[in-house]
Amino acid sequence: MPYAHITGWGMAAPEGVMTNDDLAKIVDTNDQWIRERTGISERRIAGATDFTSTLAVEASIKALKVANVRPTDIDLIICSTSTPEYMFPATACLIQDQLGATKAGAFDLLAACTGFIYALNMGAQAIRSGSIKTALIIGSETLSRFVNWKDRNTCILFGDGAGAFVLQASERPGGVLSAVMHSDGSGGDLLTLPAGGSRFPATESTVHEGLHCIRMDGKEVFRFATRVMASATLEALDAAGLKVEDIKWIVPHQANIRIIEAAARGLKLPMERFVVNLDRYGNTSTASIPIAMVEAIEKGQIKEGEKLVMVGFGAGLTWGALAAEWTGPLPSKGHVRPEQYRRLGRVRSLVRRAIRFIEGLLYRREL
Ligand code: ACO
Repeated sequence: MPYAHITGWGMAAPEGVMTNDDLAKIVDTNDQWIRERTGISERRIAGATDFTSTLAVEASIKALKVANVRPTDIDLIICSTSTPEYMFPATACLIQDQLGATKAGAFDLLAACTGFIYALNMGAQAIRSGSIKTALIIGSETLSRFVNWKDRNTCILFGDGAGAFVLQASERPGGVLSAVMHSDGSGGDLLTLPAGGSRFPATESTVHEGLHCIRMDGKEVFRFATRVMASATLEALDAAGLKVEDIKWIVPHQANIRIIEAAARGLKLPMERFVVNLDRYGNTSTASIPIAMVEAIEKGQIKEGEKLVMVGFGAGLTWGALAAEWTGPLPSKGHVRPEQYRRLGRVRSLVRRAIRFIEGLLYRREL
């Protein structure tokens, strides 16, 4: 049975930075409160030309470069997101087109902030089963488009960004070792974006009542998060036959430093073993774990052969954890330039549209 290795990684964050002081100009808050209660100092905010797919493509090209994998070699693209560009088509299909990943299947996965764990596990399982060889797993969000900028309970927390991993099959042991996924829909109302779906389609009143923005019971979500972070980590370790002492790093969902500190206490581990970068990005939902991973790898914190656990929680309610052994890129030949495929992908996309247009005209004439 092949192993699923994480062989490439990349992240993207919009250029626009919003500091706590910037927020204090629009809602009744202040830098000290936000830093003390959340650990966040600033977050990135999507500009007019940043979208969930464009951030994802930027992160993906970096990940493909690290793995030395061509977009045309990807079998499957999973985009985990709570902020898709449309109800449909899936954002993963927009990414497939922009990358020129011509043979890939593509779908979106919605498990809120736990989504990246779910998606990584789905990709790894597809590789382990032997049905695919290469998967591109993405977490990408433009949460700022759904934030109520008048609600100080939520607008201080969220930021935009994307992270991507390349997963590849190899006979060499390692890579994704285990994963656990959980949900409890009875807590669905604690963190929700009420309107815009089929239950409450957009109407004048849904817009007027602000139902297209994130709503959250912060205290309840906090309580739930502190309960599940340590337990999910231990479950994933158990499933992999590992103990806490065996792992070097915990990479938690970056929601609130106090939640991460509670997890550290629950696991009886020092904070130095936790990868934390929420001070600069805030909560980027499903993108937060891959962004934290990429920064830690690029800083040389996470090294080959080390074992780690990624653990997350979020709306749904959902939570989960994934244990992995870090191996890095597989040996490969040649030098791949994924950005060239992106350029070619644009041309290919235009040509396909033109062909579809001409075929449409011919078909109508035949009728
Ligand atoms: N600035 C200043 N004061 C504030 C702010 C603010 N931004 N927000 C709330 N306050 C006030 C409150 O009004 C309250 O005042 P009061 O005591 O006079 O009523 C006081 O500060 C304390 O408010 P609490 O809500 O008790 O603050 P708490 O310590 O719980 O922190 C927070 C709030 C940061 C939202 C916390 O509950 C939290 O992090 N919850 C988890 C949220 C989370 O992780 N969500 C993401 C889930 S992942 C996903 O799926 C997207």
